[in-house]
Amino acid sequence: MNINKEFWDQRYVSNDTGWDASYITTPIKDYFDQLDDKDKNLRILVPGCGNAHEAEYVFRSGFKNVFVADISAFPLENFKKRVPDFPAEQLLHVDFFLLKDSFDIIIEQTFFCALDPKLRPQYAAKMAELLKKGGRLVGVLFNDPLNNDKPPFGGTKEEYISYFRPYFEIKYFDNCHNSIPPRAGRELFIYLIKK
Ligand SMILES: C[S@@+](CC[C@H](N)C(=O)[O-])C[C@H]1O[C@@H](n2cnc3c(N)ncnc32)[C@H](O)[C@@H]1O
Repeated sequence: MNINKEFWDQRYVSNDTGWDASYITTPIKDYFDQLDDKDKNLRILVPGCGNAHEAEYVFRSGFKNVFVADISAFPLENFKKRVPDFPAEQLLHVDFFLLKDSFDIIIEQTFFCALDPKLRPQYAAKMAELLKKGGRLVGVLFNDPLNNDKPPFGGTKEEYISYFRPYFEIKYFDNCHNSIPPRAGRELFIYLIKK
């Protein structure tokens, strides 16, 4: 299966978006809620953002330098309508692997599992490239085998952590205790600092 832009466009066109929680999920909300006012200027990226409910919440909470990126234009159009005051230049219609920029925080949620597993080493390297030294990769990964032939692709903590170790100090990479109910007991929370 070719998991390319057309694949994702088709998922949005046919409304086949079972991953979409339709609100900010608790692990990400709780993480941002405990940041300080001094963090409000940090540059934040949500790659493979989809409808980007996380970005909407974070932006409305006063973080103004939030960027969302997706290979499909459909969710970005939805986002534009839902959050009309979000700066157009912070909506990036781009392949994550081609993105050139620098961020303080990158959020992961159901993007890693959407990619062909052979891209996992490149994903970790690209995250490291996009983060400033000391920048953080924060979010959730499925701790569940899931599918072998189409997204979502799953895996284990031991496999995942091997991709990140070369680039990141592992602050937390373990069971997530505040998942949304459908994902409870099936997620790892990750908090990694770029070396
Ligand atoms: C499973 S969805 C997750 C969306 C969102 N993170 C969420 O939690 O609702 C995966 C998203 O990644 C996007 N995507 C897939 N490959 C991409 C790539 N190479 N660059 C940027 N976005 C990509 C898809 O278009 C899709 O919106």
